[in-house]
Amino acid sequence: MSTARYPEWQAEAAEALIAPIVAREPGPVLLCLQAVQAHFGHVPGDAVGLIADACNVSRADVHGVFTFYADLRDTPPPAVPVRLCAAEACQAVVGRQLKAEWAAACGDDAQLAALTGVDEPIFCLGNCALGPAALVDGELMGCADVARLKAAVGQAQLAGEGA
Ligand code: FES
Repeated sequence: MSTARYPEWQAEAAEALIAPIVAREPGPVLLCLQAVQAHFGHVPGDAVGLIADACNVSRADVHGVFTFYADLRDTPPPAVPVRLCAAEACQAVVGRQLKAEWAAACGDDAQLAALTGVDEPIFCLGNCALGPAALVDGELMGCADVARLKAAVGQAQLAGEGA
C-alpha cells in the first residue's frame, strides 16, 4: 500500500517535532503523538519510547494515551481512507445498510479495498442532518452512498497522483 504522502519514519525528524512541544506544553504526550501521526501518517512503535523519554514519563504512560484515542494508529493509513459514521443519527438513516453495501463493494473490488483499507468506524462527524455521513480522505461527505463514495475515492486518488 502506498503511503507516499507521508515520509518514512525517522527518529531524528520525530525528535525535531517533539522537542518544541515538550518545551512549551506541560504533559504533552497526546500533542507529541498527534504531531508524529500528522507527520508520518501513523505512530510507529519506536515513537513511543522516544516520546516517553522526551516527556519524562514511562512507555506505559505513552502507550496508555495512545491506546485510549481510537484515531491514533500504529500502522500507515490506506492511500484513500474511507470512514463511515457509525453513530446513532446516521444509523437511523441507512447507516448500517451503507456499511454493508460498502463492505460488499470492497469485497467485489480488490483494488478498491486495497485503496481504501478497512472501514474504521467513526462516531459522529457533526453532520447528522445529512446522514449517513462519511469521511473520504479526510473530506466530509453527507448523504453518502456507494456510488458517491466510489466517485470521491476516484477523485482523491487522482488528486493524490497529481500532487
Ligand atoms: S451521527 Fe453521523 S454525523 Fe452525527
